Amino acid sequence: MTGRVQGKVALITGAAGGMGRTHAQLLAEQGADIFVTDINEAGLAETVALVKSLGVKVESALHDVADENHWQQIADQAKQAFGRVDILVNNAGIAMPRRLEDTTTQEWDLVMAINAKGPFLGCRTILPLMKEAGGSIINISSAYGIVGGPNAAAYNASKGAVRMLTKGAAIDLARYGIRVNSVHPGVIRTGMTEEYIDDPKIGEMLLSTQIQKRAAEPREVSQVVLFLASEESSFVTGAEYTADGGFTAQ
Ligand SMILES: NC(=O)c1ccc[n+]([C@@H]2O[C@H](COP(=O)([O-])OP(=O)(O)OC[C@H]3O[C@@H](n4cnc5c(N)ncnc54)[C@H](O)[C@@H]3O)[C@@H](O)[C@H]2O)c1
Repeated sequence: MTGRVQGKVALITGAAGGMGRTHAQLLAEQGADIFVTDINEAGLAETVALVKSLGVKVESALHDVADENHWQQIADQAKQAFGRVDILVNNAGIAMPRRLEDTTTQEWDLVMAINAKGPFLGCRTILPLMKEAGGSIINISSAYGIVGGPNAAAYNASKGAVRMLTKGAAIDLARYGIRVNSVHPGVIRTGMTEEYIDDPKIGEMLLSTQIQKRAAEPREVSQVVLFLASEESSFVTGAEYTADGGFTAQ
């Protein structure tokens, strides 16, 4: 059986756990060769083992997405291992649960460096490996890249930047046959959110704002990533896809 991304090469950042891992898993299940990166060595090794068991080619690297030099090394490694990249998932990100007045300048800079500059560097650095054959870039923003949330001013700003970076990149990269789209998850059960979802007070507040009144499993977001990565979305670019249980519909 041919997979939905059979024979493509997918690079996924922040893939040591959470959604990055399920993006890698699902793309591999559908036939893509996989390059996973993260700053978390142990988690990355687990992802590599999982994806390898699916029988596709797997490459991995320690990689801080805020570091321009790291990105160049990743591009070199991808070129050597695969010769090209067809799918780039800019997934790595951090939360910054702070009220505006408590957010330090250093915290602002950190969240912007990882969540906003990271995807920018990814798009720009991987472009030479994608521009000949075309491809699909998927930037992971957030429902909080569309609407504001409490204790999230810097995170909101970083994810809003990802949303608009995506549209600008879609326009600039269309000439190379590259589509660029953003995905906006709501409350998804991962290492980033578990403690809040499981906290009786915060969890209830979080889930009460969802139409579906539940947290999603990471794979439910990966299904959207898979669609955007595949040729099924050939006329979709510059678009924003929510996977938020209807949160931003209200
Ligand atoms: N979980 C949610 O409810 C939710 C909602 C909306 C958006 N998101 C976004 O989804 C993406 C994935 O998050 P997740 O929920 O799977 O969280 P997670 O914490 O499980 O995964 C994030 C991964 O990014 C890695 N990472 C952190 N800083 C990095 C850096 N500088 N360079 C490279 N890797 C780095 C972490 O080690 C981790 O493996 C993030 O961009 C996050 O903002 C998550």
